[in-house]
Amino acid sequence: MYVCICKSVTDRDIRRAVASGVMTLDELRNALGVASGCGTCADTAQIILFEASSRRVDPVVYAPSAA
Ligand code: FES
Repeated sequence: MYVCICKSVTDRDIRRAVASGVMTLDELRNALGVASGCGTCADTAQIILFEASSRRVDPVVYAPSAA
């Protein structure tokens, strides 16, 4: 679904950006241009960003102990 008509950004684009490390609306704006035109998409983009962030699983870094 299109979230931002001005910049042709979909919810999938936002989820992909979050998976790549985007964490805030400002970062999303810089990455995709969301909410940089008329701004009416900002609330919806923020909701999708929050939802996608809460589902993101960060990789676990294995650090062996020096036992
Ligand atoms: S719909 Fe996103 S800036 Fe206009």
